[in-house]
Amino acid sequence: MAKNRTVFFCRECGYEASKWMGQCPGCKQWDTFTEEPVIKKKMNNQAGLSQTEPQLLSDVTTDKDQRILTGIEEFDRVLGGGIVIGSLVLVGGDPGIGKSTLLLQMCRELSDKRVKILYISGEESLKQIKMRADRLGSFQGDLLLLSETNLDSIEDTIRKLMPQIVIIDSIQTMYKEDIGAAPGSVSQVRETTGILMHLAKGLGISIFIVGHVTKEGVVAGPRVLEHMVDTVLYFEGESKASYRILRAVKNRFGSTNEIGVFEMRDKGLVEVSNPSEFMLQGKPEGEPGSVVTASMEGTRPILVEVQALICQTNFNMPRRTAAGTDYNRVNLLMAVLEKRLGIQMSGMDAYINVAGGMKINEPALDLAIVMAILSSYKNRPLDNKTLCFGEIGLTGEVRAVNMAEQRVIEAGKMGYDTVLLPQINKENIGNTNVKLIGIRNIREIINSFS
Ligand code: TYD
Ligand code: MG
Repeated sequence: MAKNRTVFFCRECGYEASKWMGQCPGCKQWDTFTEEPVIKKKMNNQAGLSQTEPQLLSDVTTDKDQRILTGIEEFDRVLGGGIVIGSLVLVGGDPGIGKSTLLLQMCRELSDKRVKILYISGEESLKQIKMRADRLGSFQGDLLLLSETNLDSIEDTIRKLMPQIVIIDSIQTMYKEDIGAAPGSVSQVRETTGILMHLAKGLGISIFIVGHVTKEGVVAGPRVLEHMVDTVLYFEGESKASYRILRAVKNRFGSTNEIGVFEMRDKGLVEVSNPSEFMLQGKPEGEPGSVVTASMEGTRPILVEVQALICQTNFNMPRRTAAGTDYNRVNLLMAVLEKRLGIQMSGMDAYINVAGGMKINEPALDLAIVMAILSSYKNRPLDNKTLCFGEIGLTGEVRAVNMAEQRVIEAGKMGYDTVLLPQINKENIGNTNVKLIGIRNIREIINSFS
C-alpha cells in the first residue's frame, strides 16, 4: 500500500513546504509549521463558477446595486455599502473580541427585514446562542440556527434551505470528513473555505466566515484564507477598553480605507458615530502633560488625547514607557528635544500614554507627543481649545502630514479654535473658522504654553 504522504504548512500564512522548518520563509514567524496529510484534489464544478465558453465583456450582466443593507451603519460602510449578494466575507479577530456578537446583531437587524438567514455555530450550543440573542434584545423575524461542524451536512442544509445569508462561526471548528487532518488545520480551513466559496458564488448566497486570530497553538489563523475570500474584515480592540474597531483589510467591492467604531456594552455592540467625542471622554481640563491631536483612521479623523508624565528619575537608567504608541519613536523624539532644544531628558523618567486605549503609529502624532512632554516638563498646560499635529524630523523640523484639512475640520467640529500644524499644510488649507498656526521647527513651540 502506498505510504500516506504529508506536507508541512505554516499556520500563520499557509506557506507550504516538503520538510519541517524552524522559521517560515513566507511570514518569517518561528515554529509555525505543522505536518498534514496531502489531499488529493477533486475538481468540482457543481457551483457553476467555471465555464468553458468565453463571453464578451459587454455581454456579461452585472446585477448592479445587488446589496443588502444590514441596518448597522458602521458595518455597512466598512463592507463598502452593504452586503454584496454572493460574496464571501471573512471576519477575523482575537477570541472574545465580539465577532459572534457583531454577526448575531447583524442577523437581528436582517431578520427584522425578513431576510432568510442561517446561523451555523460549531462553537456554541443552540442554548448558548439563544442566551446571547436574548441579551441583545428581541428578534422580530425568524432566524434559523444550526449547531454543526460537518461541512457535508452543512452543504446539504444550505442547498435545501437556500437562505440569503449564512454565518459560519467559526471556520476553525468546521471539517470535511474525507480530509484526513484535524479541524482547524491549514488543509481543513482551506478546503472548507473553498467549498463555501463555491456555494456562495454558485447559489448567490452571501456567506460570513468567522476566523479566530490565534497567537499560538495548533489552529490555522485567518491569514491563511485572506487570498481566497472577497472581503476581509478584522475586528480589533483592546480587551480592557470597551471600544472596537472594524477594519477592512481587503475588499473586492469597496474601499479598504473605511473603519467602523463600536462600543461593547452589556447589551451588545453600540455604534459610535462620533468617535472623537468618545475618545475625549474624561479628558482633564487645564492639566499639564495633556495634549489633543487629530489622528487618521483610514479616511476618518479621530481626536485623541496624548498624555505625558515627566519626572526626575531615582535610578541610573531613566524609565521610559509608551502605551498606545511606538516606544522607539518616543525615545527618538526625546533625543530630538534634548539635542535641538537643549532640554535635559537623560535624568528624567517619561511615561507616554494615548488615552482611551487606541494604538496610533502614524508620524502625525509626533508633535502632540513632543508638546505633551514639554508641557509636563515645564508643568504648564496647553490651552484647552488648542490642538496640534505634525511629523517631526531629526533636525527638529516639522514636516507635512496627509489629510491635514480633514483633521482641521474635525478639530473645528469638536469645538477647538486653534490648531498648531506644519507650515506647509497651513499654506494649503482654504478658508476655515479655526485659527491656524504654522510651525516650521520645534523651536517655535516652546512658548505655546500658558
Ligand atoms: P463574542 O462575540 O463571543 O466574541 P468572539 O465571537 O469574537 O469570540 O464576545 C464575547 C465577549 O463580549 C465576552 O467577553 C462578553 C462580551 N459581551 C458583552 O460585553 N456584552 C454583550 O452583550 C455580549 C453579547 C457580549
Ligand atoms: Mg464567537
